Amino acid sequence: MTGTLHIPFARPWITDEDRHAVLEVLNGHILTHGPQCKSFEQEFAAFLGGGHCVSVSSCMAALHLSYLHFGIGPGDEVIVPAQTHAATAHAVEWVGATPVFVDCDSRTGNLTASAIDAALTSRTKAISVVHFAGIPCDMPPIVDLAQRHNLRIIEDCAIALGARHRGRHVGLFGDAGCFSFYPVKHMTTGEGGMFISRYEDVSQAVAKLRAFGVDRTHSERTVPGMYDVPSLGLNYRMSEIQAALGRSQLRRMSAVLTQRASQFERYRKLVDGLPQIRLIDTDVAECQSSHYCASVVFEGEYAGKRNEMVERLNTAGIGTSIYYPQPVPRMTYYRNKYGFVSNDYPRAEHISDHSVALPLGMHLADGDVDRIVAIMKRSLTETASGKGRTQ
Ligand SMILES: Cc1ncc(COP(=O)(O)O)c(C=O)c1O
Repeated sequence: MTGTLHIPFARPWITDEDRHAVLEVLNGHILTHGPQCKSFEQEFAAFLGGGHCVSVSSCMAALHLSYLHFGIGPGDEVIVPAQTHAATAHAVEWVGATPVFVDCDSRTGNLTASAIDAALTSRTKAISVVHFAGIPCDMPPIVDLAQRHNLRIIEDCAIALGARHRGRHVGLFGDAGCFSFYPVKHMTTGEGGMFISRYEDVSQAVAKLRAFGVDRTHSERTVPGMYDVPSLGLNYRMSEIQAALGRSQLRRMSAVLTQRASQFERYRKLVDGLPQIRLIDTDVAECQSSHYCASVVFEGEYAGKRNEMVERLNTAGIGTSIYYPQPVPRMTYYRNKYGFVSNDYPRAEHISDHSVALPLGMHLADGDVDRIVAIMKRSLTETASGKGRTQ
């Protein structure tokens, strides 16, 4: 029964419409600085329900631009969740500021206002909020805290497209929001990202920073080729090819979110009955997850058996991943730079060391979630009895 299964952890959903959209750009003459990026930015803002968008080359680029724009640098501290992708912390490092890592809530994997509060110092300038696994953080108390201490909020929404808290899309709570269109995300542009801000002047300045600091776009130049550079900048632009793909993908986002929600609901139902297994899930009222993945945490007698479970699932044809493989402060670069004592971030470490992310998305066929959980159940029984290991 299991030999024929092949369910990758994730797979980009590329349709003929996507191919056509990309070919249209290739058949034209404008590969960058064109109308596709502009339209993508407007359509993305419409999808979120607000904000001013700037298309960029990746989420990490958007994060980097955020700290550069807000002038955060050497001597400043930024609160960063331990349970995140390295990019969240790297962006802080690249501007010369210091990431101050904070542990997460064990049920959701998200930052909490009380944990942030405990880590504030007179040097704290910003809070980096990551909406883990697509679950929105409980934003009102975090926004309140930031206002009281005059801190910037940079939201890392890399895996949270479609997530809302009390109807407001993530990324629209703080000063800036950063999205990723890497291939395994909710939608893709190959590589790519979006910077958003509720403040038009912030987005206008970031748009310049993303393009060498040049003072006017191609369409604003009265003499072709003539421009000035009043400030330093980078090249973090998105191409027209990527933007055309993004626009086409964005049109299907509600179908993607509906499908993910129903698959997650099925996981929730099936995993609920399993002893010593729990799903990373939302516990905040009125919040809508974007269901990036179904991460299950092994507890009790299974807690030390995660890698064995991964091996069993993979052998049975089920792709898996781990979000995230280590709390960032435990990764070699950060450990060497800042020191790390085991149990500094016990909840983040617990999720990293004892969880596996199961497949979710448009590539799953009807009944796949049931098949995946059935194999997981069988693997648990075999793991408990030490039976049938492949190595
Ligand atoms: C929370 C988070 N932030 C940032 C990134 C980096 O995104 P990108 O590859 O678009 O730079 C990722 C990638 O998975 C992520 O999970």
